[in-house]
Amino acid sequence: MYKDEIDTDKLPQHVAITMDGNGRWAKSKGKFRVFGHQSGVKAVRDTVEGAAEIGLKYITLYAFSTENWNRTAHEVASLMKLFRGYMQSKFLQLVENNVKVIFLGDPNPIRKVIVDQMQKLEQATEKNDGLTLNIALNYGGRDEILRAVQKFGMDASTGKANPKDLTVESFEKYLDTKGQKNPDLIIRTAGQQRLSNFLLWQIAYSELYFTKTTWPDFSVEELSQILVEFDQRGRTFGGNTLRYSRI
Ligand code: FPP
Repeated sequence: MYKDEIDTDKLPQHVAITMDGNGRWAKSKGKFRVFGHQSGVKAVRDTVEGAAEIGLKYITLYAFSTENWNRTAHEVASLMKLFRGYMQSKFLQLVENNVKVIFLGDPNPIRKVIVDQMQKLEQATEKNDGLTLNIALNYGGRDEILRAVQKFGMDASTGKANPKDLTVESFEKYLDTKGQKNPDLIIRTAGQQRLSNFLLWQIAYSELYFTKTTWPDFSVEELSQILVEFDQRGRTFGGNTLRYSRI
């Protein structure tokens, strides 16, 4: 079991995952794409439970991008139904397991019943201090940066902020991930090696890991294996001193 090999002192604090390949997984089984998304929910459940058990501080899951609205109305509606189902079925467990849920992204285009549910889950878990689960829903990295600039501009116009004092740290307070540590590691499933507008600001020094496994087949065992590999990587953060894994 790879889980037993993880060096907890070198554990990354924040792992972000692009959950890709649901459609291809379904196609390979002669099924409709939505079946792939349904099966992806099980991988979400297992991964969140596994991340808490392993002792990660933050896990971010890319559930729906600002570009995903371009899919068929049927697929978008099915995904929204799955998000609702996940929030309903996991509500109590997340509260009781000390998981803090935060939604990243712009909620405005999302249906009100779903946004209400998202807010309820955030409020019910806001005092939890175990694993933070970020669910990126209607999220785009560029969109997040633009929204942050808009918020900063508003504060600047009312004298609450001064453009001259802007630093990396003060700007991060305007991002959806405010107060969080930036990801140490980004995992993308299903073989493609691209970022797809995910956490563009936050991943400046993140390690990248690409696996061919499609999301519905992703397991805690594979996550543990990736974390063991991450332990071995040296990171310099632009300097010339090698630091291993997390900072
Ligand atoms: C990308 O695979 C996956 C998505 C756009 C949706 C991810 C959603 C889930 C895993 C469902 C549940 C999520 C939560 C948080 C409860 P794709 O369909 O684009 O794959 P393809 O590239 O093979 O077509």
